[in-house]
Amino acid sequence: KKKYDYLIVGSGLFGNVFAHQMNKNGFKCLVIDKRNHLGGNIYSEKTEGINVHKYGPHIFHTNDKSIWDFVNQFVEFNHFRYSPLANYKGELYNLPFNMHTFHQFWNVKTPQEAKAKIKDQIKDLNIIKPKNLEEQALSLVGKDIYEKLIKGYTEKQWGRDAKGLPSFIIKRLPVRYTYDNNYFNDKYQGIPIGGYNKLTEGLLENIDTQLNVDYFQNKEHFNELASKVVYTGKIDEFFNYKLGYLNYRSLRFESETLEQENYQGIAAINYTERNVPYTRIIEHKHFEYGQGPKTIITKEFPQEWDKNKEPYYPINDDKNISLYKKYKDLADQEEQIIFGGRLAEYKYYDMHQVIASALKKSNDILNNQ
Ligand code: FDA
Repeated sequence: KKKYDYLIVGSGLFGNVFAHQMNKNGFKCLVIDKRNHLGGNIYSEKTEGINVHKYGPHIFHTNDKSIWDFVNQFVEFNHFRYSPLANYKGELYNLPFNMHTFHQFWNVKTPQEAKAKIKDQIKDLNIIKPKNLEEQALSLVGKDIYEKLIKGYTEKQWGRDAKGLPSFIIKRLPVRYTYDNNYFNDKYQGIPIGGYNKLTEGLLENIDTQLNVDYFQNKEHFNELASKVVYTGKIDEFFNYKLGYLNYRSLRFESETLEQENYQGIAAINYTERNVPYTRIIEHKHFEYGQGPKTIITKEFPQEWDKNKEPYYPINDDKNISLYKKYKDLADQEEQIIFGGRLAEYKYYDMHQVIASALKKSNDILNNQ
């Protein structure tokens, strides 16, 4: 018998939740990660007493009580609500687009006035069925908001002209005719008190882990250790890129510690002008109502991905979707290997979704024993 029942490649939420469920049911797991820390992209690094979200800001939100109860077993959450501001040439606006924003733009006060204003702004455009992102956004919020808050921001985010971007990217653009700055509609929201690493530690309690090890550097050895493998890395890498590379959009983060207590007074400000090279500034202490004398801010720069950069957002165009399907067919033939998580499924998952997916996967296996 092998030493472990499951080898889990990747210590992100998918791998850690899967390992937790299996371990709880008596299966021995080993979690490995090529990075020098556990937690995958939810990892935060404590500096000056502040939890710095290393791979971009993470706000937990879900409507599913069972997922909320699941994470609350390991850590309590605070009452943080994500309500970013937009900065366009020094003017500040509330996000997501709501009555506060409409009031700031047009001095309208009622939903009726706001709707009439938007209608008036697009009446000459004759958009019946939006055929790209620009038309989609225009028909939702009108010309003024589109030009100041959406166009430049989206173009730098994706490195492409808004007219060349598909309309579905913005289908779920939150627009509200209420005075409500809460970005997410979900019932349960917050940031773990003490940081996301507490969630990771709770999930991995009593589970063996190894850091700084790349599965592919020693595949035979790791396969020998366990009966089954759960793989949460990039699916194309698993098959040695033999059908080609799946593309991503990447990000670069520039952080600085400032000798001041409070830099911008809020966790996130989006910079929506195209020629400001970053898309937002995050001030990490505000996620946890930090009170210390210093602060840490991070500028987020979108960038082209290449194989030496972190893959962040999958590109859901036809070319990449059809390449993914080919890899998926290969993955389905690997009987001893379970593929899961954002990289192995080439899919954007929010945290609550990836947790749900790992719970489903592990429960299906447990129920079939
Ligand atoms: P994740 O990437 O976390 O884990 C995979 C792990 O596998 C990595 O640690 C990697 O090092 C490891 N690995 C890969 N190949 C390996 C190999 N060959 N050998 C060993 N290890 C290997 N969600 C949300 O709900 N609210 C939010 O606010 C945000 N914010 C956000 C911002 C940004 C910029 C991004 C890109 C994403 C978010 N998310 C989010 C989404 C969230 O990050 C996501 O749901 C989880 O991190 C996904 O967890 P996974 O386990 O799938 O991948």
